[in-house]
Amino acid sequence: MPDQKINILAIESSCDDTAAAVLCNGKILSNIVATQEVHQQYGGVVPELASRAHQQNIVPVIHQALVKANIDKKDVSAIAFTRGPGLMGSLLVGTSFAKSLAMGLKIPLIEVNHMQAHILAHFIEEPDFQKPEFPFLAMTISGGHTQIVKVTDYFKMEVIGETIDDAVGEAFDKSAKILGISYPGGPLIDKYAQEGDPKAFKFPKPKVDGLNFSFSGFKTAVLYFVQRETKNDPEFIDKNLKDICASIQYTIIGILIDKLKKAVKETGINQVAIGGGVSANSGIRQALRDAEKKWGWKCYIPKFEYTTDNAAMIGIAGYHKYLKKDFSDFSITAQSRYKI
Ligand code: KG4
Ligand code: ZN
Repeated sequence: MPDQKINILAIESSCDDTAAAVLCNGKILSNIVATQEVHQQYGGVVPELASRAHQQNIVPVIHQALVKANIDKKDVSAIAFTRGPGLMGSLLVGTSFAKSLAMGLKIPLIEVNHMQAHILAHFIEEPDFQKPEFPFLAMTISGGHTQIVKVTDYFKMEVIGETIDDAVGEAFDKSAKILGISYPGGPLIDKYAQEGDPKAFKFPKPKVDGLNFSFSGFKTAVLYFVQRETKNDPEFIDKNLKDICASIQYTIIGILIDKLKKAVKETGINQVAIGGGVSANSGIRQALRDAEKKWGWKCYIPKFEYTTDNAAMIGIAGYHKYLKKDFSDFSITAQSRYKI
């Protein structure tokens, strides 16, 4: 750890959360998230509304992060921001703001890959939290991504499996929509699932080669199942909601764990970390704890506040780039598709 205090101000605006955080030598001083409620009524994120909301939120969110951290702007060492992947309009707000602020303060600018940051969240300095050792496998599971990544160093990452269509978060959210549950449905499916029977209904698992995933067929299977059952009994969903949610969650978790098992076998690495919004799911968290007991894996499960989109994870990635003096040029642009 360096002698001097390195204060990173981090900005995240890749989707529908406007977030800012301040970290001092990898430890969080503040972590502010403004979640945009406007999308709920549309059942999904509306890109144009997201970028407008980012424009409204970004100044107050950054201000709050600095005040909470008790840090003056002149004591910030560098600005880290999400360059991509994400929605272009949303990314542009954070990118432009970060560039202007770093330029105005005459401090380094550090670009961060959002998906790398979901993984590096495990390196935030936290009491009682063990950090993974290299090499480890990371499974990033969110509303936009589903990947298995082999991580050999902070910024040496290789995607060894990913979805060929929908992300796992979409499988949760789209199944929820079919059941009439409001967006984002993942957390509510999780809540109902905890009181339901996971084996009440059987859904098919997709057959995809290697370490890749597919979830589009799953959503269609849920749709056909619900259409068939409600034809026989219009109150089928109301009567069986908890069991349906538990069965959906059980199947999705099974798909994820099957691929992780395969990845552990193929790489010989049995240290597994998860990240992204779906890593908040109680089923996957339990499945990994079980894997530690059953198969001797060492699993890293993030704190809830670092699962969904946040700026603390951008800050920790920025901090490790700062240590390597890996700074960005001011001509840098946002990138909606941005590989790990
Ligand atoms: O990482 P994230 O905040 O944003 C993206 O980068 O996509 O992930 C959001 C996704 C949504 O699909 C949401 O339904 C899902 O994470 N999610 C959950 C849970 N909490 C959030 N899915 C299942 N169970 C949960 N408890
Ligand atoms: Zn994310």
